Amino acid sequence: MRAPDHPAPVSIGPVRLATNLLLAPVANYCDLAWRITCRELGGLGLACTDLLSPHGLLRGTAQSLDLASTNQDDRPLCMQLYGGEPDILAQGALWAVDHGATVIDINMGCPVDKVTKKDGGSKLLCTPDRTVLLAQTVVRAVERATRGRVPVTAKLRLGWDDSCIVAPDLAVALARVGISAITVHGRTTEQMFKGGVRHEGIRAVVEAVRAALGPPEQGGPPVIGNGDVLTPELAQEMIHRTGCAGVMIGRGSFARPWIFRRAWALLTTGEPGPEPDEPERIAIVRRYFELMLRFRDEHYALNHMRRRISWMGKALGPCKPLKERVRTARSPADIHDALDEFLAGGLRVFSDGAGAEPQPV
Ligand SMILES: Cc1cc2nc3c(=O)[nH]c(=O)nc-3n(C[C@H](O)[C@H](O)[C@H](O)COP(=O)(O)O)c2cc1C
Repeated sequence: MRAPDHPAPVSIGPVRLATNLLLAPVANYCDLAWRITCRELGGLGLACTDLLSPHGLLRGTAQSLDLASTNQDDRPLCMQLYGGEPDILAQGALWAVDHGATVIDINMGCPVDKVTKKDGGSKLLCTPDRTVLLAQTVVRAVERATRGRVPVTAKLRLGWDDSCIVAPDLAVALARVGISAITVHGRTTEQMFKGGVRHEGIRAVVEAVRAALGPPEQGGPPVIGNGDVLTPELAQEMIHRTGCAGVMIGRGSFARPWIFRRAWALLTTGEPGPEPDEPERIAIVRRYFELMLRFRDEHYALNHMRRRISWMGKALGPCKPLKERVRTARSPADIHDALDEFLAGGLRVFSDGAGAEPQPV
């Protein structure tokens, strides 16, 4: 096994994380219940909310407040804001500071029309000078209000398309106005989620930031690599190939929320340690469900379990009948009955496509 590459925890401004692994903001997926589920499994240095509308936060709309809800177990927490209006973003950032944010992130990568049509998300990549001024407004407001306690970060893509790769220069300019860490998803907006993540694109950002501001060990802002990290080995490869200081993981956590624990073990010891066994995996599914019931309500929890079971099922082997039972569950008891039956050996599909053998009673 290769020696650990960059086992150092990441610091973002004055905030020292326990590891260099971050949970990505993924709209509709990374709610409080999911963040706590991942945190409890270990290895996670920083978790991020889904993207938040500063207008929604400032008006106090129920949807925005639900998305921003947090508690003391959900620390350190990054709250991500989107938009293109500097003053509104700054006010939203101050709201976030008052409501539990340890770090504020500005979304500069979202390719979705709803966000880019309002000049937010990855549309910010098209007007780098304006974007730097916007970031500066937010940094100054947060710095003044918190005396530098809460850092501001940015999450970008490589550029809008291949003819406009702005991430290296933009990252340097952002760091110069006080952005404390840069996360780069190694794709362009035009790519959406197609094609593989481009390590060389992330590497160019790492090199530009290091050349201009020094490596993180000497006070330069860390660059966090992101995209397609589905296993601990791919986290290690991301660091190895790009030189990034940390790794942000989104979709790879949905089937295996223990990926942070195993990736951190791999980076620091050279061994990822064992995967959880089946009873532990089922206990994790139950825990997530229980937390959704606690923080939200039955309707929300059942709805999310129906959507999430196809991801979680990827780590449970061929289990179409289990997924079907969870999708048609009408009550929490139905979910637990299905999981009990699965643990007892039922609700599986074997390689010939046949259902599980009837279990002796
Ligand atoms: C359904 C979906 C929703 C997303 N929502 C956000 C978001 O709210 N903010 C953001 O910065 N990125 C968002 N992303 C991008 C992810 O944070 C991440 O950059 C991307 O999924 C690549 O990382 P991964 O391969 O580890 O998932 C979203 C991605 C997906 C698939």
